[in-house]
Amino acid sequence: MDKKIFIANWKSHKTKDEAIAFFEYLKDNISKLDPSSKEIVIAPPFTLLSKSRHLIDKYKLPIKLCAQNVSSFPEGAYTGEINAKQVKEFAEYVIVGHSERRKYLHEKDYDIENKVREADEVGLQVIQCVQDENSPVFKGAKIVAFEPPSAIGSGNPDDPQHIAEVFEKIKKDYPQVNLLYGGSVAPENINQFLEIDNLSGFLIGGASLEPDSFISLLNG
Ligand code: PGA
Repeated sequence: MDKKIFIANWKSHKTKDEAIAFFEYLKDNISKLDPSSKEIVIAPPFTLLSKSRHLIDKYKLPIKLCAQNVSSFPEGAYTGEINAKQVKEFAEYVIVGHSERRKYLHEKDYDIENKVREADEVGLQVIQCVQDENSPVFKGAKIVAFEPPSAIGSGNPDDPQHIAEVFEKIKKDYPQVNLLYGGSVAPENINQFLEIDNLSGFLIGGASLEPDSFISLLNG
């Protein structure tokens, strides 16, 4: 990956008006985005994918879209599910296997493997989250985000040395994947991670919700 990738994971945050305000702020500060050196990706909730697509296109923002989840099933009689083909209409990327989905929605490796396959089959770029260096990476996942659960939303990011060790092990087992780090990344601490070997970017939760904070992250 030539550019570092920065993914704003909004989780279950933002209404339509809040998303509009976010994208308008980016439009007004577009000169600070510098897309030549980074891949900027926003992962809104499903309800905002369509509106976000519209605003990105309207303001010609150098931003890609990502879904936070996808159905493990294809199109069909699966009430409440949003399948990969439907996601692909709006987004280039999808996050699969986030530890919050394991914890609160009881997702298992089996579900995650099916989601990765469904998403890969329609040409979505899959970002598979893993919690440690021993988690399986499923066929079709080209980007892996290492997110230790204790670092998520805690204000205590993992130690760069430990992240480097985990990356080394994952790379040994899955040489083809690009590696991201996620867990309490913030404007005040991002610089310490930038030099980690094999780091291709970040998955950012809390610090991506305010556009000025997200821009500070992008600019290291
Ligand atoms: P955080 O979340 O940056 O708020 O720790 C990261 C994530 O869960 O993707």
